[in-house]
Amino acid sequence: MNVLISGGAGFIGSHVVRRFVRAYPQYRIINLDALTYAGNLENLRDIEDAPNYTFVRGDICDFDLLCRLMAQYAIDAVIHLAAESHVDRSIKDPFTFARTNVMGTLSLLEAARRYWNGRWQGKLFYHISTDEVYGSLALDAAAAAPPFGPELFCEKTPYAPHSPYSASKASADHFVRAYHDTYGMPTLVTNCSNNYGPYQFPEKLIPLCINNIRLGKPLPIYGKGENVRDWLHVEDHAGAIDAIFHRGLPGETYNIGADNEWKNRDIVHLLIRTTDRLLGRPCGASIPLITYVEDRAGHDLRYAIDSSKLQREIGWAPAYTFETGIEMTVRWYLENQPWLDAVTSGAYMSYYDDMYGKH
Ligand code: NAD
Ligand code: TYD
Repeated sequence: MNVLISGGAGFIGSHVVRRFVRAYPQYRIINLDALTYAGNLENLRDIEDAPNYTFVRGDICDFDLLCRLMAQYAIDAVIHLAAESHVDRSIKDPFTFARTNVMGTLSLLEAARRYWNGRWQGKLFYHISTDEVYGSLALDAAAAAPPFGPELFCEKTPYAPHSPYSASKASADHFVRAYHDTYGMPTLVTNCSNNYGPYQFPEKLIPLCINNIRLGKPLPIYGKGENVRDWLHVEDHAGAIDAIFHRGLPGETYNIGADNEWKNRDIVHLLIRTTDRLLGRPCGASIPLITYVEDRAGHDLRYAIDSSKLQREIGWAPAYTFETGIEMTVRWYLENQPWLDAVTSGAYMSYYDDMYGKH
């Protein structure tokens, strides 16, 4: 099987590529990535020479390139992760999000449809999405219970995106389902909660805080820090994607999460405790770095995922506890400070432009 994985040089994509390259030597994995600020081939150093792995630098909005790649590599399946992924950036620059997340997804769908040309047997278009498309839940579970609204996001929860990021992902999800319903394309959509773990770009809450604690820089908490996110280790997400890729039913949607809700300010305190301890600093030394800042516009209050369909129908369950996952994650960032320094300085980007041409 020839599998095209888009966005494989990013945070989640690199874990998915690594897992598939190692676990399925019989598959050929083609990683298509534009290497934006969020894409970094350092994330894949350990598998870049594997015989079943090929990297292509390219943009998912480049329809001619996509059509060429589908034919050149005789692609059987697409796992689509390439996206602009940061809510704060989407507030500043919504056009880029519509371009990549909506038009890029549509281009990839259409290139696959034209190449597969109705011969759907053995083909799959698997789209990776987010729980943010469902909008926001009430803080208090009792207040959120029916008839006031769902207590958790399930696959039937109506879409209600609030940020330009989640609106663009919602649009992409609808296009994927439309290709299933209109053309019969075998598709899968999964909506996952917030991920954490190695190789996450330090603009997102967890790596940002670890990086700033090590450097003694401010830890910005938006608003009162009461917003809740449901955290999943990225390797558990990659494991779920593997299971769903092989056992999911075409046309279906599965939610992925680990029943692990945390208020932002509690996460920041947990990261301070863990990072200070691992750096040999006195307990609580970094608490004065906490800085409450203006809230994010349209900030969703709470995300929480019901992943019982996935557990029941696919038999998946997360392997990491949050305790171990966070400890290992903080250790990883502290042991990989050159990676953090390179991505925060942007040094790796001009290197790629020299190697692959400016994008
Ligand atoms: P990321 O920002 O770390 O990586 C995105 C990757 O896509 C980068 O390698 C980037 O170079 C590439 N890319 C961006 N624009 C491109 C384009 N036009 N053409 C080709 N490649 C392009 O993102 P991530 O956090 O790894 O998220 C991956 C996917 O998972 C996204 O679709 C995101 O919406 C989804 N998701 C993320 C989370 C999370 O917590 N991070 C949770 C649920 C779902
Ligand atoms: P983030 O990691 O950006 O993920 P998302 O917006 O997709 O959930 O943010 C996680 C939560 O942390 C979110 O509620 C916003 C908040 N946050 C802060 O309080 N301070 C920060 O500096 C960042 C980046 C996020």
